[in-house]
Amino acid sequence: MDKALATVSRRTSMKLSSGVALATLAGPWARAETPRSATLSADLRDQPFDADWQFSLGDGDDFAQPAFDDQAWRRIDLPHDWSIEDRLADQSLVNAEIRDVDTAPIGQTVKAPPRAIGPFNAEFSILGDSIASEGGAQTGFTVGGMGWYRKHFRLPALVPDARVEILFDGVYMNAEVWLNGVQLGNHPYGYTPFGFDLTPHLDHTGDNVLAVRVANLGRNSRWYSGSGIYRHVRLSITGPVRFERWGVRLSTPSVSASTASVQVRTVVAGPVPGTMLVTRIKDPAGKVVAETRVPASDGQALLSVNAPRLWSPATPQLYHAECELLLAGQLVDRMVTPFGIRHVEIDAAQGLRINGEPHKLRGGCVHHDNGLLGAAAIDRAEGRKVELLKARGFNAVRTSHNPPSPAFLDACDRLGMLVLEEAFDTWRVGKNVDDYNIYFDGWWRKDLAAMVGRDGNHPSVIMWSIGNEIADKHKPQGIATAKMLRDELRRLDPTRPITEAIDGIAGAPVTRPDGTPDQDATQFLDVAGYNYKLRDYERDHAKFPQRVMLGTESLPADVDAIWRLTDRSPWLIGDFVWTAMDYLGESGIGKSDTSGNPLEFSSKYPWFNANCGDIDVIGQQKPQSLARDVVWGLSPLELSVHRPLDGQIERVSMWGWRDELRSWTWPGAEGKAVNVIVYTRADRVELTLNGKIVGEKAMTDTDKSTAQFAVAYAPGTLTATAFRNGRAIGKRVLETAGPAAALRLQIDRAQVRADRGDLCYVTADILDSAGRPVPDAVHVLDVKLIGPVELAAFGNANPRGVGSFRQAVAKTWHGKALAIVRPTGERGVAAVTVSSAGLAPAMARLRIG
Ligand code: GAL
Repeated sequence: MDKALATVSRRTSMKLSSGVALATLAGPWARAETPRSATLSADLRDQPFDADWQFSLGDGDDFAQPAFDDQAWRRIDLPHDWSIEDRLADQSLVNAEIRDVDTAPIGQTVKAPPRAIGPFNAEFSILGDSIASEGGAQTGFTVGGMGWYRKHFRLPALVPDARVEILFDGVYMNAEVWLNGVQLGNHPYGYTPFGFDLTPHLDHTGDNVLAVRVANLGRNSRWYSGSGIYRHVRLSITGPVRFERWGVRLSTPSVSASTASVQVRTVVAGPVPGTMLVTRIKDPAGKVVAETRVPASDGQALLSVNAPRLWSPATPQLYHAECELLLAGQLVDRMVTPFGIRHVEIDAAQGLRINGEPHKLRGGCVHHDNGLLGAAAIDRAEGRKVELLKARGFNAVRTSHNPPSPAFLDACDRLGMLVLEEAFDTWRVGKNVDDYNIYFDGWWRKDLAAMVGRDGNHPSVIMWSIGNEIADKHKPQGIATAKMLRDELRRLDPTRPITEAIDGIAGAPVTRPDGTPDQDATQFLDVAGYNYKLRDYERDHAKFPQRVMLGTESLPADVDAIWRLTDRSPWLIGDFVWTAMDYLGESGIGKSDTSGNPLEFSSKYPWFNANCGDIDVIGQQKPQSLARDVVWGLSPLELSVHRPLDGQIERVSMWGWRDELRSWTWPGAEGKAVNVIVYTRADRVELTLNGKIVGEKAMTDTDKSTAQFAVAYAPGTLTATAFRNGRAIGKRVLETAGPAAALRLQIDRAQVRADRGDLCYVTADILDSAGRPVPDAVHVLDVKLIGPVELAAFGNANPRGVGSFRQAVAKTWHGKALAIVRPTGERGVAAVTVSSAGLAPAMARLRIG
């Protein structure tokens, strides 16, 4: 429930929800209902404004009008993405054949019955609609369209000159906003925050109605964007003298082990004369370690912190700056900003240093979606994504190709994940007819300001990118645009280096076939971002020894070669694989295919997920991640098996990987040669099957950290051992599983907060009677929840497994499914039970509160 404002629930009553809400609202500009203490008991900035919205698909002339009756609309909490939800469908689209495409291929151990499950077969469409989707394969065959959101609210008692501002973290896309029937404005770009001053149009005593129209129309994206108000909405109530939105900017101009300077720049609105700015720095333990008091008209203050605890990927320690405005000794506004004390340097001679320590960007590109949740930026989903990446050795993400959510960056700050934050995928020349190219001229300046304004204080953000694979980047117009964006970004933030992700990078200017000069697109960049140009790095370095180079995109299959070169080349500061995680859309660009059809860039329905990630959409490691673990030294060796092809020919697309599984359960392959793969940087590998040596290999640096063995399949125990200098440095074992017998649930945390922003991830595995996972098992599972939780999503990671993610029934794929459970907001104990015909069920208990 929003604390700030009493939400008027149309279903229950029209009254203010409680006196408690008003009491907590006592601030300097709320008329004091309770005596005010010298410090604020509650800040009214950035109050959550996510609860109790009404939502409807479609469009209507009177939807913005306060009097419009929206009682029949669905009641939802934000963040919300309608493209991931079940849709009422054209009945002809719903048939068992489409629904059954996700049956496991060769090697499956359990065959699922045809998916004739529950009423949703008849009533709902599936995720992935090959006919209604305008974006088609690019957007994962999902459907956008128009949607409206309305929220009714009442204000607490406010002083007459209070200011009320609404902030949207992200709406996909083309949002138009009305308050009480008055149009406030619009915002096309789906990834930047925007706000409006509600003050002039508020009803201080009655019901206020906010209405938001969202239009995700046409072909506007190359990946799954989601649709709707998919990030948080916040409300800020301030007085007439206040910090502007994003009006506090922190930087650390000098940093050493003994002392650091912290610069605070402020933008204050209202009648400033006489106003004082007090800034207090609190260390990671919450102790005040520096304080200043200057006239607010100075617009800045400089503080110094002794023996600073420096922020780095290994030590993500956060300070807080409490900035207060005081007028005649009275507190009139306060902003608390987390920040890190850190110093980033980059040059070609020494590479990237953070606080003087050399770092390589072990990076992954990520899109913004949260797998089964679609684009809904629920805080825990954003945090878990960063945790998963960190656990796999990533220390950097590139937010391709747009600004991420605040919760994502907060998690990066907290967990020590470096961020390359990107502004745009297109400038003036579009990649799709309806994409950002049609808004660029009118909006680029505002969108850059919003990105830097909101995100400029995050210590995790160490670099900005002005764009990705810009079509006219080498042409005069593109070069001029790069300079324009670079200059503006530099003005907004002089502290961070700027890059651009460039494909087809030119070593030197040339003339294009059409006669136009092909200029060097890197000339205005601090760091030259190379997409897929591993083979040009050394050539370009020889030509441009001062150039700092970064692999802004790379192929998973190049992992070994990239890191051998990157690790020995100071001028090459890191690499971002495309991608760290699977994402919806760009269907099947990373596929292994045995259909016999020629490989296409985007795959045909029912592929709906890109399948190029190291980690799949339910959070499991894929084979490329095993290779990366070895290359990055997380693991001495990993063992996996290429799915038996049974005479078929496998084609693997550029971003793809062989179809491998950590499995020694291949019924039907008995006696046939199976390709066993060991990833290691050891100097010798030995493979045994049921105690007998079946393979041995001396490894050199040219083996790409990979050894392959043809082994005649027989059930039992397959063991790989890696040796260095004759000493065993690691061992991996795969055992043949028996028939599926039981279910096991693994929860990411047993205690979650009674908060709509939290989630519990419950992974279900199919086990045999000895408790071994059955790697390829396909079963239909039912999930039941008891307690103060709801099912946010249930599904598997199959990139072709179109189907609902919203029903209490799902199939396993690779022997696993994931249920995502969301607290309703009340405290208590919850139980999650998963069952399946013929298997012993499993239950997990959660404490919510
Ligand atoms: C790149 C592009 C990415 C993604 C990738 C794989 O060229 O920058 O956004 O499309 O190809 O298809």
